[in-house]
Amino acid sequence: MSAIAREAGALLMQYFHQKLKIEYKGEADLVTAADRASEALIRERIAAQFPTHDVLGEEQGLNERGGDYRWYVDPLDGTTNFAHGYPVFCVSMALEHWPSQDRHAGRPGKRVAAVVYDPTRDELFAAEQGRGAQLNGSAIHVSKTGELRQSLVATGFPSHKRHKNPNIYFYHQITLRTHGVRRAGSAALDLCCVAAGRFEGFWEFNLNPWDTAAGVLIIEEAGGRVTRFDGSAFELNSRETLASNGLIHDALLHEFQEIFAGRGLEPIPDPRRS
Ligand code: IPD
Ligand code: CA
Ligand code: CA
Repeated sequence: MSAIAREAGALLMQYFHQKLKIEYKGEADLVTAADRASEALIRERIAAQFPTHDVLGEEQGLNERGGDYRWYVDPLDGTTNFAHGYPVFCVSMALEHWPSQDRHAGRPGKRVAAVVYDPTRDELFAAEQGRGAQLNGSAIHVSKTGELRQSLVATGFPSHKRHKNPNIYFYHQITLRTHGVRRAGSAALDLCCVAAGRFEGFWEFNLNPWDTAAGVLIIEEAGGRVTRFDGSAFELNSRETLASNGLIHDALLHEFQEIFAGRGLEPIPDPRRS
């Protein structure tokens, strides 16, 4: 997996230095030739080595081969950054074991392995179920900060149905209760930053399985926690991702409860008044 992610990352860097045509999948949902080329390469490598595995990739969708394993591939996470020349993007790949009997019984698959590769910094995050998480081969762990007010956290805003996304209220409220909220533009890298102890937490509405599948396992293996916004178990189709170092998780859940209940829906403050 690591070799494939590195190869795809190197391909992205070749495209990154060119002026690419931007195409639109939606009003602000961008795609480039680099997204497509990276996914084609990854699919080719998987098919050659694991011909019975299913692959769900962002650009080509689901290719079912009837096997017990499924890959989740985001060939370029952070396309908007990439298209503007802002160097925050990555390749994200996860492998799930999902035997047909579980599939038919409606039981979720088990996360087995994950790799996220940031080619701009040559950082490869990897995890294997039960065997910890690494960054470039060295073990990583979530941070030990237990206070929300001493935390740096991150979020993101999906590019589709933007007018229906309530996240700006959460951004505002959580900014006031932490050291700050970063919005770097690559959910997979945000999740890895929680795993590596750079962020204490991350949340986002409406992410897709290819955005989260790798980062979630990497966080869990680094000692962190991922749930939905009410604290229930995270699943790839949850559309709600709340990740943390574990220590600030309950505090974040409490904040979400309050914001959903309407806290912060006051008139806009006047910046001219102290
Ligand atoms: C996007 C990025 C971004 C997140 C969006 C995703 P893409 O993925 O992860 O950080 O806020 O929700 O769609 O489109 O660049 O692969
Ligand atoms: Ca993505
Ligand atoms: Ca993508």
